[in-house]
Amino acid sequence: MILFREAEELTTYVLQLKSQNKTIGFVPTMGALHKGHLSLANKAKEDCDFVIVSIFVNPTQFNNQADLKKYPKTLDKDIQLLKQNFIDAVFFPEYSEVYPDENSTKVSFDFAGLDKVMEGKYRPGHFNGVAMVVKRLFEISKPDKAYFGQKDFQQFTIVNYLNNNYLKDLNIQLIKCPIIRESDGLAMSSRNSLLTEEQRKQAVLISQTLFEVQKMYMQKSINEIKNFVKNNINKNTDFRLDYFEIVDDYNLQKINDKVQNAVACIAVKVTESLRLIDNVCLTFGD
Ligand code: PAJ
Repeated sequence: MILFREAEELTTYVLQLKSQNKTIGFVPTMGALHKGHLSLANKAKEDCDFVIVSIFVNPTQFNNQADLKKYPKTLDKDIQLLKQNFIDAVFFPEYSEVYPDENSTKVSFDFAGLDKVMEGKYRPGHFNGVAMVVKRLFEISKPDKAYFGQKDFQQFTIVNYLNNNYLKDLNIQLIKCPIIRESDGLAMSSRNSLLTEEQRKQAVLISQTLFEVQKMYMQKSINEIKNFVKNNINKNTDFRLDYFEIVDDYNLQKINDKVQNAVACIAVKVTESLRLIDNVCLTFGD
């Protein structure tokens, strides 16, 4: 496995591979890797000749400084894990490699409102920061395919918009991969390691609630479902529901009438600086 710390070095290497008609798969992460991340990397390995995983805790996407400070960092372990999974290269740049000058963090994107709902409402500036780093990482690693998780459903939609509207020339195909869950249903997340034992036990309520919603979607009205979720999450007095929305898969707008391709999205606040998000796709019978 090749370790890259410098952007230019990685770009040079990739261009060389591409001149030999090798395909490049890219998996951007913030580290503290778990099986969710590995599922993306393994899918990339199936599809591409050369797979790069990046590890960079991107400060520009954190709207809460306490969240950034506490974000788990396990670089040595991550590198070992990627080696064991036969990943070809890891890119773990310093801040200055990603953002070489002041202007590089002054970019502002227009996402046609996709960033104004759900996570965007609760985390102002978050998606602009995500887009900034993804754009830069794409420009450095120049992949043929880039892999993202359904776990961050809104992020995927926005990165897809970024790719289609701002980065067309890079000609990158985005691949969305399913959510990997713990055996009790909790969606895997780097932030799960920050939960106390008690919070971890209780966190199962989030996915359980979403699985109930999946069953209810056929029979109950949207309002009935929303009330159910509110009551179910709030029965755990330690958690606070930030939002629960059922949105159109494509434009992230709330739906009033049931449609195929809806997604139920939830965000739960565990503490002031720790939130968990999850989602499930909703369909009704043929
Ligand atoms: P991070 O939270 O590390 O996630 C990296 C990728 O792994 C994302 O595409 C995310 O959706 C995916 N992922 C996380 N948990 C998953 C799970 N349980 N199952 C499947 N996929 C999962 O998302 C980010 O980092 C950052 O915003 C990033 C895109 C790297 C930009 O900084």
